[in-house]
Amino acid sequence: MNRTLLVTGGAGFIGSHLVRLLVTKYPDYRIINLDKLTYAGNLENLRDVEDRPNYRFVKADICNFDTVLRLLQEERVDGIIHLAAESHVDRSIKDPFTFARTNVLGTLSLLQAAKAAWEPTGYLMPGPVDSVMPGPDRASIPCRFYHISTDEVYGALPRGGSLFTEQTPYRPHSPYSASKASSDHFVRAFHDTYGLPTLVTNCSNNYGPCQFPEKLIPLFINNIRHRRPLPVYCRGENVRDWLYVEDHARAIDLIFHEGRIGDTYNIGGFNEWKNIDIVRLLIRVTDRLLGRTEGADDDLVTFVTDRAGHDLRYAIDSTKLQRELGWSPSLQFEEGIERTVRWYLDNQPWLDRVTSGDYQHYYETMYGAR
Ligand code: NAD
Ligand code: TYD
Repeated sequence: MNRTLLVTGGAGFIGSHLVRLLVTKYPDYRIINLDKLTYAGNLENLRDVEDRPNYRFVKADICNFDTVLRLLQEERVDGIIHLAAESHVDRSIKDPFTFARTNVLGTLSLLQAAKAAWEPTGYLMPGPVDSVMPGPDRASIPCRFYHISTDEVYGALPRGGSLFTEQTPYRPHSPYSASKASSDHFVRAFHDTYGLPTLVTNCSNNYGPCQFPEKLIPLFINNIRHRRPLPVYCRGENVRDWLYVEDHARAIDLIFHEGRIGDTYNIGGFNEWKNIDIVRLLIRVTDRLLGRTEGADDDLVTFVTDRAGHDLRYAIDSTKLQRELGWSPSLQFEEGIERTVRWYLDNQPWLDRVTSGDYQHYYETMYGAR
């Protein structure tokens, strides 16, 4: 079937892996990547697919309703996978307003544009509150608005024990998770109120190639390489649940095509790690791949003041996704980490360019200044 999909935030970390998967797996689809190219957006991540005939890049802000609506109408977009967001918790603590603008108002603007574009098709069908379209009917609705969200909306878990399920109440603590929670609510409100065919997923922490080196794993690999301090918040006792980014992209592809309209799925690999244990693992793997004695850089670990509002533990129960749609993660964590460390060590020029901001100057000449 021919389809035209709009991916927002496709120049970012997860978005670029998803765009590559869609462009290569579905040559009959047209994949439009709409991205504002903030500091986190980097078209270099998509060099290998940018010349494919079924791929188009549009530099735009999701907050610009007129531009987005025109694009949806002109291209006859029938599916939206929405990843564009401000995504770093530490930045949200310093500048919450930018997070509200992009994550809340930008998502609302995109929802309004999708509603305006798809209303004439007759596929918007408001139903009873909390209803989801049963499986067999899902193929009859071609339009889908799929919102990518995070497990951080659920708040923090105590050490050990329970996991986040799709029924866990929202209790966001950081401005980032509050803005994502708000956007999730707007997406569900558009399903319940206007019958917009929506899907929402909440995923755990992703890792892998092309992640901006402000997040724990790429930042620390780069610092170990250059023998810079590794700033571990508090004592490193916080727990995160890690998923390889390509496994997330595969889950998004599956849920976009097979998920029940109006429904929510948690995505995670049942892979909980204390921060300090990940840091020790990163040191061992990076040292080994650089030909240093394993653990030689242990003394780079520097315990620093804790992040404000730092959530103790995230852990996702993705049983529903595994049971209903048959998804499971493909990689063991140790293998994923080895692959990830190797990628950053082999791509030092990429790291140097994104930390210096040079990639942004290059693309300004191609797509205009921000
Ligand atoms: P990222 O920061 O690497 O990329 C975000 C992308 O969105 C960038 O390309 C940026 O240029 C673009 N963007 C930002 N503001 C925009 C705007 N106003 N208009 C258009 N484009 C804009 O983020 P990521 O880590 O790839 O995360 C992608 C999505 O997945 C986000 O919605 C995030 O909340 C969610 N998520 C991330 C993780 C994770 O571990 N990284 C986990 C679960 C969910
Ligand atoms: P991060 O990669 O920012 O993801 P998130 O906050 O969305 O989970 O951080 C992962 C964990 O690592 C989190 O508990 C905070 C911690 N952390 C540090 O200890 N030091 C750092 O420099 C960073 C960036 C994160």
